[in-house]
Amino acid sequence: RTVGVVLAGGVGQRVGLNTPKQLIKIAGRTILEHTLAVFDGAPEIDEIVVLMTPGFTEDVEQVVARNGFRKVTKVLEGGASRTETTWRALRALGSQECDVLLHDAVRPLLEPRIITECVEALKVYSAVDVAIPSSDTIVVAAPGPRGEVIRDIPERSRLRRGQTPQCFRLSVIREAYERAFADPDFDSMPPTDDCGVVLRYLPDVPIYIVPGSEHNMKVTHPVDVFIADKLFQLAASTAPEHPPFAYRQALQGRTVVVFGGS
Ligand code: CTP
Repeated sequence: RTVGVVLAGGVGQRVGLNTPKQLIKIAGRTILEHTLAVFDGAPEIDEIVVLMTPGFTEDVEQVVARNGFRKVTKVLEGGASRTETTWRALRALGSQECDVLLHDAVRPLLEPRIITECVEALKVYSAVDVAIPSSDTIVVAAPGPRGEVIRDIPERSRLRRGQTPQCFRLSVIREAYERAFADPDFDSMPPTDDCGVVLRYLPDVPIYIVPGSEHNMKVTHPVDVFIADKLFQLAASTAPEHPPFAYRQALQGRTVVVFGGS
């Protein structure tokens, strides 16, 4: 059994609207609908669990009913932090071993190819991340006399930017989280993602890296809403062979302008 867990428990403070950012419409559908459409259409996924911002689970139920997403089995409330939301999802999955793909709801441009490669990798590894090379130089900052100064510039060729899904055998990610919550220091410096929890608490477990995609962006700041909208337009006109690209449908009737396309 392979379960897609869609983490939609955040509020989207940095986008700054009074509704969670996963409910913003892009290319005719909410970000959450786009993301769920990818998982629902992926042949490797048997079941989907959605964790939503408290007070908004009804919106998810409506989205599921409206689109006929038949793989969604549970819609639950998320926790106060991303790690708490993940933990709630893991507890809801029961004791039977399975593969789990934890995905940010706000990465609606996930390609089916990435899901396929993650599920393949889980046949060999019990932990799998998705990452892309960094085109920016990454610097390590430290407090200086006035503002920040650079402490280090790690070699760029070794650096990757982590995306999602992050994928695990259920028993492995659960064990990592059980150790994390037993650690009194966890709350003062929680890892920002689930691979970070495995790396810290199960350091002997190798985490395989599946190549991600520049398109698999996380809608984080207001400008990302516009970038994602443009990427949907491009995908609709240049990559129609990628099922389930449901946003093609959503775009019907709109004028799609592709700059520089041949
Ligand atoms: N997330 C979650 N539960 C939380 C916090 C975040 O499930 N308590 C999810 C978000 O819904 C999102 C993903 O984790 O799909 C990535 O997080 P981020 O982009 O930081 O989302 P928000 O926390 O909503 O954004 P912000 O930090 O700007 O408030």
